[in-house]
Amino acid sequence: MQICRFSTAAQVGQAAAALIAAQLLRKPDSVLGLATGSSPIPTYQELIRLYQAGVLDFSHMVSYNLDEYVGIPVDHVCSYHRFMQDNLFSHVNVRPECTHVPDGNAADLAAAAAAYDEAIRAAGGIDVQVLGIGRNGHIGFNEPADVFTWGCHVVNLTESTIEANTRFFASSADVPRQAVSLGVGAIMDARQVLLIATGSDKADAVAAAVHGDIDPHTPASILQAHHQVIFLLDEAAAAKL
Ligand code: GLP
Repeated sequence: MQICRFSTAAQVGQAAAALIAAQLLRKPDSVLGLATGSSPIPTYQELIRLYQAGVLDFSHMVSYNLDEYVGIPVDHVCSYHRFMQDNLFSHVNVRPECTHVPDGNAADLAAAAAAYDEAIRAAGGIDVQVLGIGRNGHIGFNEPADVFTWGCHVVNLTESTIEANTRFFASSADVPRQAVSLGVGAIMDARQVLLIATGSDKADAVAAAVHGDIDPHTPASILQAHHQVIFLLDEAAAAKL
């Protein structure tokens, strides 16, 4: 586990984008595992800047997002499908058919989740997995639990996550109570993991993930067992290390 500290969230974004850019330059048809939330936004902005500057080409890239809410339309302003369109995909030359986000509206959610894992395997697995971290230590929507869940699965969101994500919705009652998330299996199988955390409200979760036991009650702690993981942190998120 490598820890990189930066003064500001903008620098964290530039560093994460530089690592993703290096991956895309080395292997244009990389499979990227992408995350939503506020943490990767500066990273995506920097990737867009590099694309607009003619440095990066996304036309061979394949992506699989980590998670999606259950039961909201894909074009809902808070859906993760929409987030990816607004914050990255519509600004670069990625081929729409090469981007994937879990289906939170499938008639059979469990079957769709299993098919999502299978599609990632068929694509050769994830080269670089981008992660944020929840205040409760979740990655994707792998919430604290008694066991780690390996496969893509339907999750009941915790009160803490519903409260944290209320800021994106009109009210807490509007936050979906379930989501579909990659399990820790596909994340641990990724060849490289970049975890982005900024802000003081992530300091406890980062400290528990880095220094605590590997424990499903802090899902991000499983990353201690990954062979190639970099935590990219600003001062505030790194404050309790
Ligand atoms: C959400 C997402 C996660 C994200 C986390 C942190 O619930 N499912 O993938 O990493 O919360 O979000 P933020 O970066 O906005 O703090």
